[in-house]
Amino acid sequence: MVILGIESTAHTASVGIVSERAEILSLATDMFRPPKGGIHPREAANHHVDLLPGLVEKALSDAHLRPSEIDAVAFAQGPGLGPCLRAGATVARMLALTWDKPLVPVNHCVAHVEIARVLSGLDDPMLLYASGGNTQVIAHGSGRYRVLGETLDLGIGNFLDKLWISMGGTFPGGPPIEAEAKRGSELLSLPYSVHGMDVAFSGMYTAALALDAKGASRPDLAFSVESTAYAMLTEVTERALAHRRRTDVVLGGGVACNERLRGMVRAMAEGRGGTSFAPPKALCLDNGAMIAWTGHLALQHGMSMPVERSAVQPRQRTDMVATPWR
Ligand code: ATP
Ligand code: FE2
Repeated sequence: MVILGIESTAHTASVGIVSERAEILSLATDMFRPPKGGIHPREAANHHVDLLPGLVEKALSDAHLRPSEIDAVAFAQGPGLGPCLRAGATVARMLALTWDKPLVPVNHCVAHVEIARVLSGLDDPMLLYASGGNTQVIAHGSGRYRVLGETLDLGIGNFLDKLWISMGGTFPGGPPIEAEAKRGSELLSLPYSVHGMDVAFSGMYTAALALDAKGASRPDLAFSVESTAYAMLTEVTERALAHRRRTDVVLGGGVACNERLRGMVRAMAEGRGGTSFAPPKALCLDNGAMIAWTGHLALQHGMSMPVERSAVQPRQRTDMVATPWR
């Protein structure tokens, strides 16, 4: 079985083709990068409408497959920006109708988690999903992914992006902050905001901007933001492991690209006698392969949809969707 998956929830348009054994047969991705400021939903959606047809062609030709060899079309139903979601959903519906294949809606957050889980080889790990809009500590239970803790305000990635843009940079902020942080060493004081199993970043955003305005060294500021924010995530992940009597952690989402976060979580997990795993970067960031793989899991349980019932769900949370494959 071969599934084609379409991702278009926010800044990234991506098409992935995946086998039933989770082999990535092809992945064609293009990220919308606003020349300045944050992401405007309509501009990003226009980018996706322009690029998705070519990305579908590229994914098919890279995988050496004809449309007749695709068994189903999966797409990200939510959560995300309405116009962006509709761009991907429209392409997916059109392909499913034209090729006469099942159409499978997929939750974007569950897809980040499932691609990371299958690549880890771990059956039931604790999951740290750290991305642009979401920051969640997740465990599976009673037919769904359960959010044990999460951000109370900004997603960690949105926090990094917003901070970097306010400091004069362009989207995305995570990678340039990581590059700056590698040259920093002094730990500047920033709000450390952990509330039980939850975290918050808006206080750190305000404090970091104030330090920047006072002329703090960029590398030290970036080092301090990363150290403080990732310590918060590591702490809530460790608390979840302790409560659930687990040892293994799997990271997913775009911020899981970050070497410091990977290292801190690994040190914590290994200190408890466990392991941690993060996928290759292209599969941490938004990608069509994770949608295809989760579509495959869903299709095994008959979760395809007629076009008329396939409306996008911009607010569909991780814990709102059933996972009968688990
Ligand atoms: P969500 O999954 O919550 O809907 P998203 O889909 O918008 O969010 P992803 O593609 O999963 O986001 O992740 C993008 C985020 O990852 C951006 O905020 C970006 O700054 C961040 N990011 C990418 N690389 C790194 C890195 N090396 N270090 C830290 N953050 C990073
Ligand atoms: Fe994402």
